[in-house]
Amino acid sequence: MERELALEFVRVTEVAALAAARLMGKGDKEAADQAAVDAMRRMFDTVHVDGTVVIGEGEMDEAPMLYIGEKVGAGGPPSVDIAVDPLEGTNLVAKGGPNALSVVAVAPRGHFLHAPDIYMDKIAVGPKAAGKIHLDAPVIDNLKAVAEAYNKEIEDVTAIILDRERHEQIIAEIREAGARVKLITDGDVSAAIATAVENTGVDILFGIGGAPEGVIAAAALKCLGGEIQGRLCPGDEKECARIKEMGLADPRQLLLLDDLIKGDDVIFAATGITDGDMLRGVRFFGNRAETSSLVMRGHTGTIRFVRATHRLDKKKI
Ligand code: FBP
Repeated sequence: MERELALEFVRVTEVAALAAARLMGKGDKEAADQAAVDAMRRMFDTVHVDGTVVIGEGEMDEAPMLYIGEKVGAGGPPSVDIAVDPLEGTNLVAKGGPNALSVVAVAPRGHFLHAPDIYMDKIAVGPKAAGKIHLDAPVIDNLKAVAEAYNKEIEDVTAIILDRERHEQIIAEIREAGARVKLITDGDVSAAIATAVENTGVDILFGIGGAPEGVIAAAALKCLGGEIQGRLCPGDEKECARIKEMGLADPRQLLLLDDLIKGDDVIFAATGITDGDMLRGVRFFGNRAETSSLVMRGHTGTIRFVRATHRLDKKKI
């Protein structure tokens, strides 16, 4: 994929973030999601790729736009697969909470794991701790490995995890080990990325979240040199069958970074919707708005923070 494409995709997340941000705090997560989807879908038409959505808003019969299998882009080459989350953290936007993002990841055809919309158990860390953690290792061992990698005491390691009942045990183990815990209400894509970005104050992500979000986070971590491991959590036989259909013989297989995304030819773009640990949320002033985005290429490892101001009347948002 050509390097110029990276900046094309940041325009896609910018416009979705602008649209969703207008609805911040209105208590209507569906409306905010719809606004992001509509804006993102329109902008895709201007990007010169032959794209297929492989991680999106749902199956064709569930989602009118950005559904799995939908063709997007103005035409190729290149032929690419696209993973989208126009609004990652719908509740966060509805309540004005932190770290809501608009996200797109792009890779050559066939390179993303086509994860169904079920849960995935995850562990993620930044570059210094990459190769030193394991999803199946005891929590304390992973915390020790991270402490060692960062040359600090376990008491100074910060673990981030979704605040859910299903995580009671793991949270107790993190506390028992003496590490600090950051409980979040939503948004484990942003949390996973934060482990690999300096000065976010977050060292390791634990816990179960969405599988599509796991693949999207993997794209970012590949660009950042971090690591994520996952394991799908099928709830019943039907979900096991779906996983087998997508090519995994064992539905509970440990998924390493290269299983989630093949190779390093991946582009990742994200724009902040609400204020977060890495990116500022959208700011409106006059007929302009400012966005903060992150855009990265796995191939070169270049990480760009892009701050842009937009004329709202020109963007029709
Ligand atoms: P949405 O943007 O679809 O609302 O997802 C937010 C999120 O918090 C994800 O970041 C996370 O992976 C998933 O939901 C967790 O699911 P659940 O809320 O069912 O625990």
